Amino acid sequence: MCSWQINLSQKFSGYEKIPQLLAIGVGKKDELDAETIRRAAGKAGKMLAALNANTVGFLLTPLLNKATETDLGQVLVEGLTLGAYEFNAYKKLEGNKAKAKSIKIICCDPEKLTSLKVLKIGKIRADGTNMARTLGNTPANDLKPKDLAEEAKKIAKQHKMECTVLEEKDMKKLGMGMLLGVSQGSREPAKLIILEYSHQKATQTVALVGKGVTFDSGGISLKPGKNMDEMKFDMCGAAAVLGTMKVIGQLNPKLNIIAVIPTTENLPGGEAQRPGDIVTAHNGKRVEILNTDAEGRLILGDALSYVVKEFKPDAVIDLATLTGAVITALGHLTTGAITNNDDLMEQVRKAGINSGDRVWQLPSFPEYGESIKGKYADLQNIGGGDSGTIVGGLFLEHFIDETPWVHLDIAGTSWNVKHVGYQPNSGATGVGVRLLVDLVQNWKTLK
Ligand code: BES
Ligand code: MN
Ligand code: ZN
Repeated sequence: MCSWQINLSQKFSGYEKIPQLLAIGVGKKDELDAETIRRAAGKAGKMLAALNANTVGFLLTPLLNKATETDLGQVLVEGLTLGAYEFNAYKKLEGNKAKAKSIKIICCDPEKLTSLKVLKIGKIRADGTNMARTLGNTPANDLKPKDLAEEAKKIAKQHKMECTVLEEKDMKKLGMGMLLGVSQGSREPAKLIILEYSHQKATQTVALVGKGVTFDSGGISLKPGKNMDEMKFDMCGAAAVLGTMKVIGQLNPKLNIIAVIPTTENLPGGEAQRPGDIVTAHNGKRVEILNTDAEGRLILGDALSYVVKEFKPDAVIDLATLTGAVITALGHLTTGAITNNDDLMEQVRKAGINSGDRVWQLPSFPEYGESIKGKYADLQNIGGGDSGTIVGGLFLEHFIDETPWVHLDIAGTSWNVKHVGYQPNSGATGVGVRLLVDLVQNWKTLK
């Protein structure tokens, strides 16, 4: 960890003393947009980290500024801070490779294109994203459901929010049979984390729900060994929601925001649930478990039903590393979405373009949902095999009532993202943080 200092100077001076100059191409002038600049700044950040440099300077020019809807200064600092991120908490760094303890960004802005306030917003957004990355990268032996709960409590304390953590006994009383069914294969108790941010002038409430499976072995429907280590990332939805709340606590949007995180391990212990088991969800629906590896929809279903009933939000967004199928459909560059509300979807899509966390809607014609109608119960947790991302999304829709809702499948975009300048070469991306921050900051009451 190192500290950052951001300076803004109206003069362009000191250039005679520049020891190293880094030039990064940004393509054609009329094709330039915010994301291109964010990526270029990200590359610069990576160089900065590799060189252990402690000072970096930028000159802002109107040419770059015109190309961006978002403030150029914000995008530059954001990209730089994201690019410089490294996860080396578990590495002994040799003496001569010791990392710079503080980094200074000097923004030369002779034309007064930006402000210190805006530069700091870029920093806050990137720090929230980096926090989500670190939660994602931390191995599952050091990040259990209780650790996510502690993180939430820390955020609540720092930013004057309310935090409630429901324990398994509370879930029993509430009838959350799907969440409890997943957690019964592990010795670590599940938690349901609720973090509430409110603004005095708010008239609308948005709920953010994040999948927090701290390790997904598949349970009795055990996953193959290859790449199973990557299932420590199965809590990236939760990480995105926590990173977002951290940013929200500092930017104070005029909205009430409820974060809900169902968190558990999915392990095949002696008490684990079996294929064929039938459980009762929080909303009373009975669900037959045909594959214990389709656990994300189970824990989210109970969380969605709970937040809709208890808080009656105006809109709900859920983020989950829900299906491998979304990687087949969209690769690692775009998050897949399922929705019941076109207006909300459009707001999310626009936030995706703005933030660089791009989102694409998948179809959800009712026929896709036929395959999860249950044989022995109301529902079953898997369909026939085709269009897995859509079926997963439609399973969740059974727990949302009529509330405007967008489901984001971030299984592809949460790690392993290549060829994006500000993304790490390996590990978690912190996807969703800047997307959600943009969404709540530009929130428009739904039609
Ligand atoms: N966490 C996984 C989804 C996943 C798989 C994310 C691979 C990233 C890479 C989820 O819990 C899961 O196991 N989904 C199953 C669903 C299936 C059993 C219907 C999947 O995608 O195989
Ligand atoms: Mn699974
Ligand atoms: Zn999972």
